[in-house]
Amino acid sequence: MTTPDKVARHVAIIMDGNGRWAKRRHLPRAMGHRKGVDAVRELVRSLKDTPVECLTLYAFSSENWKRPEEEVDDLMNLMRKFIKSDLPEFIANDVRLHILGDWRALAPDIVAMLEDAIAQTAKGTRTLAVALNYGAHAEIVHAARKAAAEGEIDEQAIERHLFSAELPPLDLLIRTSGEVRLSNFLLWQAAYAEMLFLDVLWPDFTPDHLKQALAEFAERERRFGGR
Ligand code: FPP
Repeated sequence: MTTPDKVARHVAIIMDGNGRWAKRRHLPRAMGHRKGVDAVRELVRSLKDTPVECLTLYAFSSENWKRPEEEVDDLMNLMRKFIKSDLPEFIANDVRLHILGDWRALAPDIVAMLEDAIAQTAKGTRTLAVALNYGAHAEIVHAARKAAAEGEIDEQAIERHLFSAELPPLDLLIRTSGEVRLSNFLLWQAAYAEMLFLDVLWPDFTPDHLKQALAEFAERERRFGGR
């Protein structure tokens, strides 16, 4: 069976290469992350010109806590600033915020900001899903435990309890920076997703790269295990 629908409704991105972007310019890593946020902002703005209904971004993995404290603080501060500065734009542009991961374990002020942003954007028609303190293994364990508590564990029961339960099926997974691995991101959801590994560092990623990726997606033949 091939899919008649060549439109990617749900795109996920592993935003990699902020550190290398900064290093090449002899700048502190924090500058790479700052530019990375600018790239996020431009991409979210461009969504209205694409058929993408949901964009999921890997912003902070549960393994990222192993980075130096200063870098973790930088990333958390960027998150605070980003929500504060861009929330009015999300509301104006009908962007709904969704968070995946164990995000309620983040600093209480960030949790409160995110809860407020989720509530204020609830009516949005396009979704920006941000993975924060996220790991796919932990997500699957969490879903399996919930399913077990309800009764039988089958695929539908697990899917109902994934953090992505209310999102469209994942169509396209992009990783920037030339690395070719999934790094514990959306392992369940990626089962039939198309994958694209781009040689672009995240701060250099533009809305045009997304449009090219969508064009490439449209050329691919998806079989979902059939022929
Ligand atoms: C990978 O680059 C990137 C991250 C670990 C964080 C991604 C975060 C952002 C783009 C900013 C925050 C996001 C939002 C939504 C506000 P790296 O540091 O691993 O780069 P390197 O592999 O070149 O060192």
